[in-house]
Amino acid sequence: CLAWGSASAQNAYPNHPISLVVPFAAGGPTDVVARSLGASMAKTLGQSVIIENRTGAGGTLASQHVARATPDGYTFLIHHNGMATAPALYRKLSFNPLTDFAYVGQVADVPMTLLGRKDLPADGMAGFIKYAKENGNKVNLANAGLGAVSQLCGMLLQESLGVQFTTIPYAGTAPAMTALLGGQVDVLCDQTTQTIPQIKAERVKLFGVTTLDRIKTLPDAPTLQEGGLKGFEVKVWHGVYAPKGTPPEAIAKFNTALRAALKDPVFTQKMAELGAEIVPESKQSPEGLQTWLQSEVDKWGGIIRKVGVYAD
Ligand code: MLT
Repeated sequence: CLAWGSASAQNAYPNHPISLVVPFAAGGPTDVVARSLGASMAKTLGQSVIIENRTGAGGTLASQHVARATPDGYTFLIHHNGMATAPALYRKLSFNPLTDFAYVGQVADVPMTLLGRKDLPADGMAGFIKYAKENGNKVNLANAGLGAVSQLCGMLLQESLGVQFTTIPYAGTAPAMTALLGGQVDVLCDQTTQTIPQIKAERVKLFGVTTLDRIKTLPDAPTLQEGGLKGFEVKVWHGVYAPKGTPPEAIAKFNTALRAALKDPVFTQKMAELGAEIVPESKQSPEGLQTWLQSEVDKWGGIIRKVGVYAD
């Protein structure tokens, strides 16, 4: 293995497969984005991008793993808003999102949808709100753990309804969706990157979308705001990270491959079908991700501390 200092080592990078760590279960929304992205990036890198699902603790185990990984340009992490909410949600976090990583860039923004099991006796947002208020903690809400966006959305939902559901955590929203389809849980808030196929096949009840405006892929779905939850908004963003100390040459090459993927029709069409929007070029850079992350740590930290949800 050549030292990074030599020109030939830098030219040879990457000379073996690269690992892209996904903090949630295979088949779920984060995994769907990661696999399509990795396949597209591999075309530029000339090496395969291996998806490694490291689940647990709402994504924080994966982040911790990558923060401590050898910074050699062969381990990266894809994560969403959870990177920014973790410091407020976990009092004893073993890594710092703002100081323990090198930043590559952002990928795509994804709306969320509020779903019920197919036979839930509630229709539309008005029906959902009535059902939620009447049944309170008898309602089972699935999520992907403290730090998942499904948890973030569920937390804001309960807060704005003034109800407390019974929360059931899974290793990702792929198993949470399986539980919803099987009728073992009642409600799930999840990203369109996983939910659109289930919504289109009418295997779940759709109550609304979590963006302030309606979305192109589900034009008939009302926003939660239209449904009566004023100002309700959760938008999911995705960043790619490396352990701090990763050689700048490796970051630059990985970023070039990322930008190429964000223009690759195979990737962009798949994202469009699933309701995801590729980020503008200003967010595709390391600086674009770092600045955004800081603003999100500040934004969600404030909201979460107000609600007062956290783990020791
Ligand atoms: C979540 O945060 O809810 C995740 O996106 C879940 C997942 O990817 O499984």
